[in-house]
Amino acid sequence: MTTKAWTFTHRGAPSSVLTLTTTHPAPAFPPPLPLPRAAAQPEEWVLVRPSHAALNPAGLFHMALVPRLFRAATAVPELDFTGTVADVWAPSAPSPPSSSSPSPPPPRFRPGDAVVASLPVAFLWPQGQGALQGLVACPARYCLRRPPGVPPAQAAGLPVAGCTAAQMVEDAGLGRGHRVLVYGASGGVGSLALQLARLAVGEEGTVVAVCSGRNMEMVKGLGADEVSVSVLCFPGCHPFGFCPKPLHRCWTTSTTSLCLPNCVGALATRPSTWSSTAWGYRAFTSTAGTS
Ligand SMILES: NC(=O)c1ccc[n+]([C@@H]2O[C@H](COP(=O)([O-])OP(=O)(O)OC[C@H]3O[C@@H](n4cnc5c(N)ncnc54)[C@H](OP(=O)(O)O)[C@@H]3O)[C@@H](O)[C@H]2O)c1
Repeated sequence: MTTKAWTFTHRGAPSSVLTLTTTHPAPAFPPPLPLPRAAAQPEEWVLVRPSHAALNPAGLFHMALVPRLFRAATAVPELDFTGTVADVWAPSAPSPPSSSSPSPPPPRFRPGDAVVASLPVAFLWPQGQGALQGLVACPARYCLRRPPGVPPAQAAGLPVAGCTAAQMVEDAGLGRGHRVLVYGASGGVGSLALQLARLAVGEEGTVVAVCSGRNMEMVKGLGADEVSVSVLCFPGCHPFGFCPKPLHRCWTTSTTSLCLPNCVGALATRPSTWSSTAWGYRAFTSTAGTS
């Protein structure tokens, strides 16, 4: 059986290395042996038919930078998706059953369940079976039931970006009344960090957001009190020149790393803390798949 998939074999920009194929081998149960190192013990697996997938910088990294040594030769990228469970597989009970052996837990999922899933890098890279395909097989512990009130497109965008943003907010130790700056507030991580910061500092606090002019209204709508337009950062520029009042916390989620030294420099003279999405990503990779 085959399925539709976006695949790549060579490193490069997605527009040049990705190919849409309708003849990608579809996964089937039981999962082929040996089981992947990231899920080496027999456990419940699900076959999910994705309806939506997230495009994260991690996918770009997978396609553009990861050498062949660390990934499957033909790979389907992307970690996060939502969809419907098409099949469930669980290891059979020990045979013959004895009173001392515990009976296996009931399956967590059934065909037809709506789920949101996030594949850890340790699973995706060696397997090469990511979200951009018609059927994904993975351990059930990488999936959660999608709450009915959360639309599938929004749910697909939450796992990696949401965990990164949530970890940044937690690490920053925000309190009510704080004044916080979110640099890159219009992006995947930044837009979520901004909303979480708004909740954490409360109405008495202030959220200052930085993004490009075309995204100002969107960022205001997400809860920013003040919005400044970003300029392209370069060494020596001062991204907080517009921000005369001291900041309690600052996050940068901008894709440009050149601004990071400037952020550190700007805050060193102020009673503030600084964090970037690099910390959030570390936190995400250690929590993925445990829920
Ligand atoms: N997405 C994830 O799950 C995830 C997880 C961990 C770490 N990260 C890292 O976090 C960073 C942001 O990821 P993302 O997914 O949020 O990216 P994104 O959706 O592309 O957002 C990028 C943000 O940076 C701003 N920006 C882009 N170029 C800029 C420049 N030259 N100067 C100032 N601001 C600029 C954008 O603002 P405008 O569009 O308004 O210009 C936008 O707010 C990346 O470095 C990524 O590797 C992402």
